[in-house]
Amino acid sequence: MNRIPHPKIGLGHWPTPLEPMLRINEMHKGPELWVKREDCSGLAFGGNKTRKLEYLLADAQLKGATTLLTAGGVQSNHARQTAAAAARVGLGCELFLEQVEAVVEPDYNHSGNLLVDHLLGARVHQLPYGQDLDAAMDLRAKTLTDSGQVPYIVPVGGSNAVGAMGYVHCGLELAEQLQAKKLSFDAIVLATGSAGTQAGLLAGLALAGVDIPVLGITVSRSSIEQCDKVLTLLHEVQSLLKQPNLHEDHVICFDQYYGAAYGEPTAAMIEAVRLAASLEGLLLDPVYTGKAFAGLLDLVRHGYFGTSERILFLHTGGSPALFAYSQCLGEN
Ligand SMILES: Cc1ncc(COP(=O)(O)O)c(C=O)c1O
Repeated sequence: MNRIPHPKIGLGHWPTPLEPMLRINEMHKGPELWVKREDCSGLAFGGNKTRKLEYLLADAQLKGATTLLTAGGVQSNHARQTAAAAARVGLGCELFLEQVEAVVEPDYNHSGNLLVDHLLGARVHQLPYGQDLDAAMDLRAKTLTDSGQVPYIVPVGGSNAVGAMGYVHCGLELAEQLQAKKLSFDAIVLATGSAGTQAGLLAGLALAGVDIPVLGITVSRSSIEQCDKVLTLLHEVQSLLKQPNLHEDHVICFDQYYGAAYGEPTAAMIEAVRLAASLEGLLLDPVYTGKAFAGLLDLVRHGYFGTSERILFLHTGGSPALFAYSQCLGEN
């Protein structure tokens, strides 16, 4: 039985692998860390947007869309994956990318995700910091409509209730993996931004009857604001699924790991990116997974988890952004 009553198209390679971090575990001798490789989702460098786009593109196709419009920062992973999905199914794609004020890297404005966006055939509109991206997309959508096209606006991060169904799918998939491997986890740690990943995963795990705390490491907001955002979306998703609402206690966020601003490097992020790469051959990213993994390592070091617990890190992708941060991540 299909437990998610929403159409989807196929874009990714599922299930994504579930692996222990053997050398890191050997080093810190604390709780056992595992990783679910959402970065191996199979679409243009992979990442967490693939699952969301499977549902969003099905919706776009049902509505007869000819062009996808979406928005984000210059190095948006979501924009890159949306451009790839549009290329796969033969839709036009226009990206509205805002300058990120805090980042002073020389490669930021031409390499990494932005380079890939161009290769994928997207039309890129670069906007100054602080611009109203939704207004810019609405205006362009009107122009496209007037010229006989059918625009479809994909929300920032793919995080509305339809997109979040992708992470309901991930929750169900993880529950099956746990059953098949006779494995259990005491917590899941992930980066949380536009909130669809955390909200969808919580809804998916609840639907599967699996109770594992999901800890979101924020990348730009206070934990109060982020918890509110996740909870609102979680309840929207659960009402579409006709499931009872989870109580707000299930939404847990930590805001002490993103540093001064969204996208701004931190010393702990650089350490975490280097550690995962040099001990596990695992490429994190500077904006999301690097900061989330730094948060996980800090929680481990401060004894937040018991030493006999097993913790899952959701690797949500983003590695193309490494090339946009060559100055801070370059030579040791
Ligand atoms: C690599 C990566 N990880 C995590 C996230 C956060 O996911 P969400 O926006 O669903 O909270 C993003 C969002 O863009 C991302 O690009």
